[in-house]
Amino acid sequence: MSEFRIGVLGRGTVGGAFVTLLERHASRIERITGLRPVLAGVLTRRTGPPFEELLERSELIVELIGGIEPARAWALEAMRAGRHVVTANKQLLSQYGEELFATARDHGVQLRFEGAVAGVVPVIRVLQESLAGARIDRVHGIVNGTTNFILSEMARAGLSYEAALVEAQRLGYAEADPADDVDGRDAAAKMAILARLAFDTPVHLDQVRYEGIEQIAPDDLEYARELGLGLKLIGTAERIDGRLSVRVHPAFLYPGHPLASISGPFNAVTVESPEITEITMSGPGAGGPQTATAVLGDVVSAMIPPASAPKATEPLELVDDVVSSFYLHLEVADEPGVLATVAQLLATHGVSVKSVVQKGLADQARLVMVVHPVLESRFYGALAEIAALAALRSPPRSIRVLEEEFS
Ligand code: HSE
Repeated sequence: MSEFRIGVLGRGTVGGAFVTLLERHASRIERITGLRPVLAGVLTRRTGPPFEELLERSELIVELIGGIEPARAWALEAMRAGRHVVTANKQLLSQYGEELFATARDHGVQLRFEGAVAGVVPVIRVLQESLAGARIDRVHGIVNGTTNFILSEMARAGLSYEAALVEAQRLGYAEADPADDVDGRDAAAKMAILARLAFDTPVHLDQVRYEGIEQIAPDDLEYARELGLGLKLIGTAERIDGRLSVRVHPAFLYPGHPLASISGPFNAVTVESPEITEITMSGPGAGGPQTATAVLGDVVSAMIPPASAPKATEPLELVDDVVSSFYLHLEVADEPGVLATVAQLLATHGVSVKSVVQKGLADQARLVMVVHPVLESRFYGALAEIAALAALRSPPRSIRVLEEEFS
């Protein structure tokens, strides 16, 4: 059995979660890559082996120590020694990206950083690979989970700014120093990285204009809600007359905007291009296990040769009968007992009615109902018997209803 040894720098929120995930998924990763990922060691600012020793026994270095030094020096040293580097360090990439990219190129190693922007949302891969063939005009993003969580909680639960921030820290979304989150600097670093990839031009954090959310008052949110507007901290990178603008500031959005419905610690990035019109990617943008999942994905990518065909490793049985909620439309004779008969047939098959309305009268009567989630076979069993009722004027119509609510 061949091993692939991974040295980890840092054991904070993301580093700790990464070590746990690596152990949990080692067997699956081995089945995919043919190599067993093994933890070569963990080095923190205070504990662990000397860096050179860890480097010696690692094929890849995961940098999750944060900040600029020693993260920069160690990442450079690792690449110069021919090791791949995976990092989630947005401050480092937004200030020393060009030096790091050049070092990776010069030494033929991979530098991967999906976890640096929007947590587990795969925006880096999409910009670098999927959209490599598109000319991008604009990128809009909600790229800080802490501020999106704070604004959502202030609007939803009327929480004060301070209370919402404490909750974001407790849940592990905020930076070690949350000032970076609330003043917009964290989002600015991420927008610099996205702009670098979207427009193939060096963008330094110092070139990004940013404002935070510290000045937002609860009644701004309240008045705006009455106007149908929601407040978000929006990052923008766009071409303007052959030049580039990269900025972060709070902005009100109308409900139809693709970023308007992104709430809580979720992040989202919208990419606009004439060829593709627009795509929006969204998902958990902060949190230890979420960001560590992106980091582990990068590790697996570094382990397998590029463009390898996907290997099926877990044969799974396919399920036919699944649980679903349904809308049911019946054209019936408006006679005593019809609704009761329909309800009885549904009940016999274990189908529970969530809501029902009757429309029209006499031969024009319609019973329209929504049923609670139930195994489809049960619903269709009831439907077959309902279809045979003499009171029915036309075949019943049913459509599945997606009931999931995401928060
Ligand atoms: N503090 C960051 C955020 C974590 O709130 O989005 C992910 O970079």
